This record gives sequence, C-alpha cells and structure tokens, in this order.
Amino acid sequence: MCGIVAAVADRNIVPVLLEGLRKLEYRGYDSAGLALIEAGSLKRLRAVGRVAELTAQAEATQAAGHTGIAHTRWATHGVPCERNAHPHVSGGLAVVHNGIIENHEALRASLKAAGYEFTSDTDTEVVAHLVARELQTGGDLFDAVRAALTQLEGAYAIAVLREADPTRIIVAREGSPLLLGLADDGTYAASDAAALLQVTRRMVYLENGDCAELTRSGCRITRVDGTPVARPETESQLSADAVELGQYRHYMQKEIFEQPVALSNTLEMLGTARSIQPGLLGANAEALLADAGQVLIIACGTSYHAGLVARYWLEAIAGIPCTVEVASEYRYRDSVPDPRTLVVAISQSGETADTLAALQHAKALGMQRTLAVCNVPESSLVRETALRFITRAGPEIGVASTKAFTTQLAALYLLTLVLAKLRGRLPAEQESAELRALRHLPVAVGKALELEPQIKAWSERFAMKQHALFLGRGRHYPIALEGALKLKEISYIHAEAYPAGELKHGPLALVDKDMPVIAVAPNDALIEKLKSNLQEVRARGGELYIFADADSEMSESDGVHVLHLPEHYGALSALLHVVPLQLLAYHVALVRGTDVDKPRNLAKSVTVE
Ligand code: M6R
Repeated sequence: MCGIVAAVADRNIVPVLLEGLRKLEYRGYDSAGLALIEAGSLKRLRAVGRVAELTAQAEATQAAGHTGIAHTRWATHGVPCERNAHPHVSGGLAVVHNGIIENHEALRASLKAAGYEFTSDTDTEVVAHLVARELQTGGDLFDAVRAALTQLEGAYAIAVLREADPTRIIVAREGSPLLLGLADDGTYAASDAAALLQVTRRMVYLENGDCAELTRSGCRITRVDGTPVARPETESQLSADAVELGQYRHYMQKEIFEQPVALSNTLEMLGTARSIQPGLLGANAEALLADAGQVLIIACGTSYHAGLVARYWLEAIAGIPCTVEVASEYRYRDSVPDPRTLVVAISQSGETADTLAALQHAKALGMQRTLAVCNVPESSLVRETALRFITRAGPEIGVASTKAFTTQLAALYLLTLVLAKLRGRLPAEQESAELRALRHLPVAVGKALELEPQIKAWSERFAMKQHALFLGRGRHYPIALEGALKLKEISYIHAEAYPAGELKHGPLALVDKDMPVIAVAPNDALIEKLKSNLQEVRARGGELYIFADADSEMSESDGVHVLHLPEHYGALSALLHVVPLQLLAYHVALVRGTDVDKPRNLAKSVTVE
C-alpha cells in the first residue's frame, strides 16, 4: 500500500505534496514523510501518525522548495516509527516507495557487505543504497535508477530525488500504480489522480516497467532498458468535489448515502432500453460470453462477498455453474482450468495485488475470457481483461467499502441477465420486469436509508458488546458475511457470520445473553426455515436483531427486535439488506469513538500481497 507524490515546479511544492498526501491517506496512514531540495540542500521531514503531523512539522520548519517527493505509509516491513518512515536516504539522494521488494534480504546482505549502513527495517532502504551504488559507477540519476531497478524483484512505484541534481525527479512503476500530472508550472507524479487534481487534470498513466524523468518543462518516459516510449495523455474526469467530505462527518457516511446516486449512475447505461444487450459489457462481449461454460469469480474482502451473492444469481437465473474464490487462495491453489471459463475479477480499486495476481494466474492457465468489474477505469485490472464493466460509484475513500459493493452487485446482476439471455433463459416478460426492478433500485435503496434513526438506537446497545453473530440464508448469507466484516473492521467488535442452518452445528454454543445475533431475514423461500433457526437462538437466551422485509410476518417480543425494510425486493433484495448493516456498523463505530474512515491496521487499497 502507501501513497506517493512527487513534484518539480516553478511554485513552492510543499503545500502540493502535503495536500496530495492528504488525498492519499486512504492508502496508508501510520506515518508520513517528505524530502525536498531547499536552498540547494536535501531536507527530510518524517512524522509518525497522520499527514497532519507532517504538515505541522513542515510549517514549523517553514519547509519550501521547487523539487520534492512525499509518502504516506502503511507498514509492511518494520513497525510504524520515524526511523522506518519514508523517504529513505543514501549518499545525498532520497527515495519513496509503494510496494514490496521481495529480494530485499539478499540485497541488504550484499549492500551491507559493500559497506552501506542501514538505518531502518524497511525493504525500501535497499533501493536508496542500490541507486547510490549505481551512481558510483558513473552515469546520471536516470541511468542509475534504471540499473537499480533491474536488480529488484517484487512490486514498486518509486520516486527518487538527488541533492546534486535539484531540477529533476525520477519515477518508475512495476506492479504498483503511478501516474504523471502535466501542468503549465511543472510536472507531478502520484499514486492516484485524486492527489493531483489540485494542480492539473492532464494525466499520463505509466505502464508496468515504465520509468520517467520529470522536469519543470515535462517528462521523458522509457522502459527499464532505456527504450523511449510514449504514453497517452488523458483528461481526468474525476470531480474534485467527489473527494471532498461536504456536509458529512465521515467518508463512510457520505458513501453510504451516495448509494442511490451511485446505483443510478452505474445503471445509466440502460437508458430507456427495453432489452438487455451483451454490448453493456464491451464491444465483443457476445462472442466471448455466448459459449462460456462456467464462471469463475476471483476477488478479496467485500468484493469477494459481491461475488458470493452473484453465484446464487448466476446459477439460479442464468443456469451457469459458478465458483467464487478468494484471490489470495486461488493464485496458489492447484485447480483444474477449463478454457471455456469466464473469469470475472471484481475489485473496487482495480489495484488489489492478490486479485491482479489471481487474474494473471487464470490467464496463464489458458483462460482468456476475462471480465473486470471495477470502479476505477484507469486501474491495472481494467487494462488486463478482455471485457470490463465500470461501476460508476465515484471515488470511495472510506476504508470500509459500501457504495462500491452495491454497485458491484448491480453490475453482477446485469451480467447474470446478459448470460441468461444468451442462454435462452430470459423470456421477454421477465426481461422487462428485471429492467423495471433495476431502474427502481436507487429509489428502493434510498428508502432503506431512511431506517437510520432506528438503527442508531440499536447501535447504542451494540457498542457495549465484544462479539456479534450474523446469520443469513441463501443469497443473504453473503450479506451476513458483509455485515460482520463491516462491523469488525470499523468498530473492532469481533463478528462472525454463518449460514443460519449451520448454527446448530457449532456456533450455537457461543450464544448467550451477551451475544447479539443479527439476522438478515427477507421474505423469501427460506423464511420459515430461518424463523426456526432464530427460535433456536431465542431458546438459549440470545438477543435477536432482525432485518425483515415489509411483508414479513415478524414482530417484536422480549429479546426480539425487528426492523422492517421498506420493500420486498425479490432477487435483488441483497442490495437492500446490506444497507442497514452498513449503517449499523457506522453508528456502532461512532458510539465507540473509533476512526471510522481509517480503522487501525488497515488501508483502502491493498497493493501488496
Ligand atoms: O479494491 P478491492 O475491491 O479489490 O479491495 C478488496 C478488499 O481489500 C476490500 O473490499 C476490503 O475488504 C474492504 N476494506 C472491506 O470493507
């Protein structure tokens, strides 16, 4: 993870670096640092904690300069402390890095033997010493960085600055995101466009294996071997407002309430169409999907939960076999590949290292029908698949994923309908009904958000608990999983989710008066079975919190609390039922006083293995 920003410009770049880091804090926030050339000398500032700490230092020391690099860290190698914070320095140069250098131990040993002294526990420090060593053998900074890169194994986006070379910065990427920003007053680089909107909308996305030299007047891009390459300039469409909090207290809160708009934007492509066309997934979608024999979904975290819901849809509606794999497991598992498989990689960021690697693994096994469901059009994932569906949720900043999830579900439902149609399983009448249901979704989700006051009241009681159990059945079991994930990641309450039928096979032993049990209880074919499972909980003194549908016959009684969702939404009800669980996690976290948008130990974009 980690976020990097670099700038070489006519203006004082310190405010640009700090504002850029603030926008990148979602990538990591345990320490931050910057290096710049100030009055001809290399100056380094580092602080443990948030970018605000670094900003205070920069103000106190009146840091100012025209060339600089900066970093916000999510610790991988070495605890979060000032010594391990980036930039790392060697012989008058400074380096910031996002990624993991896998052969850092061997490199460290050889550099130590050559007399280089290490002052941190990070993998990054080897990069600084390697570049310094290359400079000893002649050549300029660009040559030295490229020579150093040939010795690295792993993933990186780096920026390098040198005191003796104060008017340029060298950057490179392999496996971690990096883009350049071109402006009239200088040239910039960052892990994400959001960091550079403050100075420009003119972006150049680097490819893996690219290196670039930045000067005030522009950039020169080459491959690691020095071969020049041209990368297209694009105009960023990202709205600066989209990454501001506005009237909200937290990004997570904002993003939960943006779901109706996010869904409506994602489904806008349907327009007034009366039928569902494969072209929604790309120009050659029909050819790739028509004879797909099965679907393999790979993803992590919340995106994995979206995949689990989709499996129920794909098998029931499209009649196509589907497996869903946690990406970090799939990439190392011996599996049985079938070239007719449609591989669907789901990722909000499109930069999740495990998902990217799992996709590459599937392709290497001969599966070339690939589809990305992703929220970031310029991401690495989108560039690696034959087909893509871009969810239009807008930037998601809160570490806990919310609007990305519901828009992923909408996208996966569309995929299901496309496959059902291609397989002759979508009669015209059903097709019209499905389209109506999809178009009404933003309204239905909007109504589910109106439950907030009741959920707030429930959250007071949850906040005192140490554990919680979530139950669901069928396609709402993944919703229970998602509810548990939300609660644990932002409130630090231990939460587990089970298919309700599994309760009596073990977890029932945990149930007592201190264990709140949250049930996702839509009025579907399994409701009577679920009610029996809930009786089992009540009989053991467990306190029940039930999210039922408008037409569910479930009422409050001693130890049984019921909230009715405004509508019963059939196959799409998972999209509605997740909303109160997101709100519950948010309000419990508020009561417990945790850092909602930046929960401990986590980061938004997991670009390391
Ligand atoms: O960007 P991705 O969708 O690939 O991210 C996958 C997970 O890291 C992510 O969903 C994570 O589990 C969230 N923090 C969950 O809220």
